[in-house]
Amino acid sequence: MAKETLTITDNRTGQTYELPIHMGTIRAMDLRQIKANTADFGLMTYDPGLTNTASTKSAITYIDGDKGILQYRGYPIEQLAEHSTFLETAFLVVYGELPTAAERQAWEFEISRHTMVHTNIQNLIQTFRYDAHPMSVFISAVASLSTLYPDSRNITDPEIMRLQIVRMIAKVATIAAYTYRHNMGWPINRPDDGLSYVGSFLRMMFRMTEVHYEPHPVLERALNILFILHVDHEQNCSTTVMRTIGSSQADPYSALAGAAAALYGPLHGAANEAVLRMLEQIGSPENVPAFIEKVKRGEGRLMGFGHRIYKNYDPRCRIIKKTAEEVFEVTGHNKLLDVALELEMAALNDDYFISRNLYPNVDFYSGLIYRAMNLPANLFTVMFAVPRTVGWIAQWVEMLKDPEQKLARPRQVYTGPDVRNYVPLDRRG
Ligand code: CMC
Repeated sequence: MAKETLTITDNRTGQTYELPIHMGTIRAMDLRQIKANTADFGLMTYDPGLTNTASTKSAITYIDGDKGILQYRGYPIEQLAEHSTFLETAFLVVYGELPTAAERQAWEFEISRHTMVHTNIQNLIQTFRYDAHPMSVFISAVASLSTLYPDSRNITDPEIMRLQIVRMIAKVATIAAYTYRHNMGWPINRPDDGLSYVGSFLRMMFRMTEVHYEPHPVLERALNILFILHVDHEQNCSTTVMRTIGSSQADPYSALAGAAAALYGPLHGAANEAVLRMLEQIGSPENVPAFIEKVKRGEGRLMGFGHRIYKNYDPRCRIIKKTAEEVFEVTGHNKLLDVALELEMAALNDDYFISRNLYPNVDFYSGLIYRAMNLPANLFTVMFAVPRTVGWIAQWVEMLKDPEQKLARPRQVYTGPDVRNYVPLDRRG
């Protein structure tokens, strides 16, 4: 039988080493014994962007990027999008199993009891300029939660941890809605316990003067689906930040704010905003060929296309595309959809994109749904951060409970100058 080991010969010394292979990996620390001489530090791996490094074992999300598969705790994303709700999926992702009827009721009840935010947070949001980017406001407000719950630093206390999980999931929706209302110059709406999590979120966002706000069932369902699809995506940039900050045993609100800051970048969670701006810039389907040629000349990227992991159609994109059609039946046709459909078809038939395995990702159509709901483009990343909070939390909990995890502290290959003496100011160049 084949041995689960890797034999390495160091050609500098002629020495051979046999390293164990476990679950398709070798341990980076096993390389440290490989030295050119006794004074040598030992071999390390060099992996900018961590493109081929498993930083953890995880039982939360499974992705097969070549086959276009995404599962949470073993459940295919397609089944969860069709049958589950956002809060039920959140329970599954955080605790590992779908809730029983009693667990689900208790979970929904408890979350609904923590959706209000302290007036300090409300006042803080009011202090930002009316045109502050909602994502910057969201990050600041989430970070500020740690000032209100100082005991959240006791991360090893299971009851304290449980309470912060509920608080974080409950409060991010309220904060997100308040940032939007502030941006629009409208008074805030408080959460409504009589509605679902998503229904209450829609009410906080959109209620104007009506006494009874009823979320449109198609839009409520669409938002549930979008939230489910965004819950987790294993070790992406923002999740890695959540785990990294959490590994120093910082409180979870500070870690959450850091993760949200990572999501804010256009190569990660702000791609949906960039997609919408790109579609607006293209303007109409007949301008698509010229735009594709520009991208191929290296003048910008086709936003919402390509993924570090998926080298096939992103399964979330397929579901969102269908959901978008249902939403447009309610909100009316959006001309940017025609541009998006033309762009997708053109790219999927073009050698440049085919040869690089570039397919539409989750962000390609999600912005169109948000736009159809009348949301400004600068709010799209906040709409990503709300559901992703669940994934960040699940990954944070898993990291804290994993006895193999340590303070995150990568190595470097130093390329700076050798040691030199300090030069007084009057003797410099
Ligand atoms: N448009 C045009 N060319 C692209 C694109 C794109 N969207 N994405 C990758 N390429 C090209 C790239 O120029 C390179 O070509 P070459 O080999 O000739 O230099 C090749 O494809 C490989 O690109 P890469 O940058 O090495 O691939 P990566 O795995 O590091 O990049 C990515 C992944 C998501 C950063 C990239 O595809 C991208 O910038 N996409 C647009 C932004 C986007 O939609 N981001 C959302 C990602 S999904 C949501 C999330 O998880 O946050």
